[in-house]
Order: sequence, then C-alpha cells, then structure tokens
Amino acid sequence: MAEAKRKLRSADWFGHQGKDGLIYRSWMRNQGLPGHVFDGRPVIGICNTWSELTPCNAHLREIAEHVKRGVWEMGALPVEFPVMSTGETLLRPTAMLFRNLVSMDVEESIRGNPIDGVVLLCGCDKTTPSLVMGAASCDIPALVVSGGPMLNGKYRGRDIGSGTDVWRFSEEVKAGRMTQADLSEAESCMSRSAGHCMTMGTASTMANMVEALGIALPQNAAIPAVDARRRVMAHMAGRRIVEMVEEDLRLSKILTKEAFENAIRVNGAIGGSTNAVIHLLAIAGRVGVKLTLEDWDRLGRDVPTIVDLMPSGRFLMEDYYYAGGQPAVVRALMSRGLLHADALTVTGKSIGENCQDAPNWNAEVIRPLESPLVEHGGVAVLRGNLAPDGAVLKPSAASPELMKHRGRAVVFKTIEHYKERIEDPELDIDESCVMVLQNCGPKGYPGMAEVGNMGLPAKLLAKGVTDMVRISDARMSGTAYGTVVLHVCPEAAAGGPLALVEDGDWIELDVEARRLHLEVTDEVLAERRAKWVPQLPPATGGYQQLYVQHVMQASEGADLDFLVGCRGMTVTRESH
Ligand code: FES
Repeated sequence: MAEAKRKLRSADWFGHQGKDGLIYRSWMRNQGLPGHVFDGRPVIGICNTWSELTPCNAHLREIAEHVKRGVWEMGALPVEFPVMSTGETLLRPTAMLFRNLVSMDVEESIRGNPIDGVVLLCGCDKTTPSLVMGAASCDIPALVVSGGPMLNGKYRGRDIGSGTDVWRFSEEVKAGRMTQADLSEAESCMSRSAGHCMTMGTASTMANMVEALGIALPQNAAIPAVDARRRVMAHMAGRRIVEMVEEDLRLSKILTKEAFENAIRVNGAIGGSTNAVIHLLAIAGRVGVKLTLEDWDRLGRDVPTIVDLMPSGRFLMEDYYYAGGQPAVVRALMSRGLLHADALTVTGKSIGENCQDAPNWNAEVIRPLESPLVEHGGVAVLRGNLAPDGAVLKPSAASPELMKHRGRAVVFKTIEHYKERIEDPELDIDESCVMVLQNCGPKGYPGMAEVGNMGLPAKLLAKGVTDMVRISDARMSGTAYGTVVLHVCPEAAAGGPLALVEDGDWIELDVEARRLHLEVTDEVLAERRAKWVPQLPPATGGYQQLYVQHVMQASEGADLDFLVGCRGMTVTRESH
C-alpha cells in the first residue's frame, strides 16, 4: 500500500520539495530509514508510556515492537515516541496530579508532528485517561493498546491481588495477626510478572473502559501482559490503525454519548473503580460530549455486577480472560438490552457485532445476570447538604449493613492530621462513628490523593471491626474496598460544606435514597462558614500552581479548565 487514497497530514512534512523537504526527511533518515518510506504512506505514531519508573508499563517497548510489525506489514511507517509516564507506586505526591499534564504532552506531541494516526500504549492507572484525553483533543484516528494485567499473585497456595491484599495484609499486621516477615514474603509473591495490577483496580477498569468505549480491540482489557496473545493483539492493532487512517475513522466518530453510556454500564457490570467516573467525565469533556454524574447514577443503578473480581469479589484478571473477558460481559448486558449494541468501534464494526457470539467459559468468574455478585452495581451518586454537587460510593465494594447508617463524625482536617491522630489511644471513636477527611480534593491536596479509604484505628481492628463509613473529598484506589464516600463536591478547600464538619456532628448516609446529610442547621453552618479559613497548599510555582489555579472539581472530571474541548489537528505555523 505505497499510495494513500487521500492526502495525509504527514505529506505536509515529507511531501515537501526543496530545503523544507530535505530537513523533514534527512534527519529522519539518520535512523536508517530508506527514502521510499516517505512516499506518502501513512505515518503511525506509537505513543509510549514505557518507563522503568512505571513498573506496570516497563514492558511496553516490547509491545511497541509488535505494533510496528503490524504497521510495516500494512505498508505504513511507524514512529514511536515517548510521553511522560505516571506510575502509581512511585510518583509523588500522586500520579493524578500529572494526568492533565501528560494529556498536554500527548496532545502537543501528536499535533506538532507528522502523524496520521496513533496507537496509545497505556497500562498503569493514569496513563490510560491521559493518553486518551490528549488524543481526543486532537481528534485523530487512535487506537488504545493496554499493557495487560500481571499474572495472578500466588502466596502460600492461594491467589492474592495487587493492592487489595496490600490493604488486607496491612490491617492484619496492625491487628497483630500477621508478622513483618510474612508481609515481606508476600511482597515478591504479589508482583511476579510484567503488567499492571491484576485486580479490578483503576488500570484494569480503564483498560475495560477503553474497550467498552470502542477505542480498543476486543479483549484489550483482559489478556495477561505476558500471554503471547497480548503481542498478537498489539500486532493486529498496528495493522488496524493503518486502515483506520484510510477510513478517516477519528475518535470523535467513536466517542459518542452512546459509547460513554456503554462504558458506564460495563463499569457497573465489572465492579469497576470509582476513578473511572472522573476519567470518563474528563474524556467526554475533550470530545464535547455532555456527560454528568447523573448519567453515572441513572445508568449504573440497574446494572448488576457480574464479574466476581477483587476488590468486590474473589477472582483476578487472569481468570477474567480465561472466562471470556469483556466480550462475554457485553454479550450478557446486550441480552438485557442494557447496551447500545450499534455503537461503532475501532474494528469498523459495532460493539454488538464484535461480541454477539462471545462465549462465557466460567460462570463463577463472569456470573449470569440472574445471580450477580451485587444486584445493583454501578456507582451510586449521593447528594445532600454535605455534598451539594455530588459524591460517589461503590456499592459492590461496600458493606451492605452500612449502606444506611447514622453516626457521629470524627474529623481529620488533613491527611497529616489523620496520621497524627488515628492511633491516639485517647481518640474517641467506635465502629458506629463516621470518619471524615477534609482538604484532600483536587485543589486541597493537589491531584486529589487516593486516601479516601482511611485505615481503621488499630484498637477497632483488634476488636474485629472490618469496615466503617468514611467520607472525604479524596479518591480511593480502585483496588480498595469499604463503605467509602468519595469525591465530595465542592471539596473542602474550595469552600464546600465538608469543610464545616466538626467532631461530634451527626451524619446520615442512605445509599438507597442517594442521600448524604449533615445534621447541622443552616444557621450553625453559616456561623461556621463566617469563621472558615481556606486551607490551600502554599503557592509553589511551577506546574502545581497552574494546576491548583485551573483544576475543575471532581464532578466535572478534574481537568484543567483551559484544556476542555477538542482543538483539532491544525498546526498554526510551520517550523521553518
Ligand atoms: Fe500500576 Fe496498579 S500500580 S496499575
């Protein structure tokens, strides 16, 4: 396929004659590229988040090689380029602080270069939304290839899951039921292959989301990172992106409102991470689709969680793949009319066509709709005088007996205050209390840290308490669990009522009624507000300052206000 059917944007670089054409081509030829590859064929960018500091993505250079094979095979020119990589485990203060920064890196790298289509190599949590947000603001043919999950963790004869068992083990250690030596043995047993967290944490959730949105090939989410079929899928993605360029199948043609609605339904069925709420709102903002928290509540309410994976359930991503992966889930949801079966995907076919014959090989892992893990999965959106603009809770990870609860507030002003206070023997707290954490929202703790699932005090863990109601403006790791109300909006640092809660106030949570109520009169709240002093982080300069000044609330996707929308592929000036 040496000749493209229509003029491609890369021809604006490589198709030039004279001095400009020489500059564009000559320096590229120092990589050993022969002259004939600049003959007007599509140029396919491979946007790579490979980094040894992002262990979940450390194998992506190998995946990129397989994408390249597919691109070459179709007669196009692959060009791999790096963007900032955000690993959850090492990056401080939190990888989420940099999601929007990476999206800028991606957007400008695509637009400023001679790229006709792009394959996005993602894995660890924020790497997926940031790459999709950046590509969506360009509206280019794009296809996501996820790095895939790690193999199941194996510890003393049983499966253990990334993150989920870290929370479990650390509580066991705090309660004196596990030794430090046991914990360090578990360390190597948990992460034993390439890939990202193999629970249904945020990475697996987002890999499922891009598949459900239609911007990744079927089975993108589930194939383990080290399974040869992951490399085959990368190869096929390389082939397919070239066809997508020829078909001008751009992201805006796939990322419709229907696609987002499908993703929300799939998130409910898989017991996906609450982080998906923020990421999908942000992606929708980039393509001009009006998506709201109400859509999450409306669409998630009647979706049963049928995928029995940690943290909500028992199994792990490897089991999910062997059971049939997302296509089996999509087929089940379609059988109840819960999906827009005609939504277009990167295959050029609809999601319904892709999944209509998908088998389910293990009804324990992907359960029948009639016997779900949780009848009403989805993400519950709560409102009330404590969260006028909404808050979220994941019912599948919560304790049924706490879904309707009234308790006395124990308030932590910051995460540091929580750490100082939580093990104080004098702390007046019991299992009926509601733990409240303030100032951990997008502005208050720049990046909105994953600290919403505050650990319980050791004295209660030792008594056998396993869950309490916790409320904050923070996020929670997708691998975590508990009756945890998150993303309270507006956040405390922006003057939300959460900032006004004091020790001893009574709070009512009623998930069924979607209610989160602070039992304090408006008059008393007004008095407290008059004395309230915002707790904003010090102005540091640099990116963090830009972030704090421009970040929107979680209910709007926590994007930077000036990044919302699609700016297309037009470059304003040529370089020389
Ligand atoms: Fe990277 Fe969990 S730490 S996916």
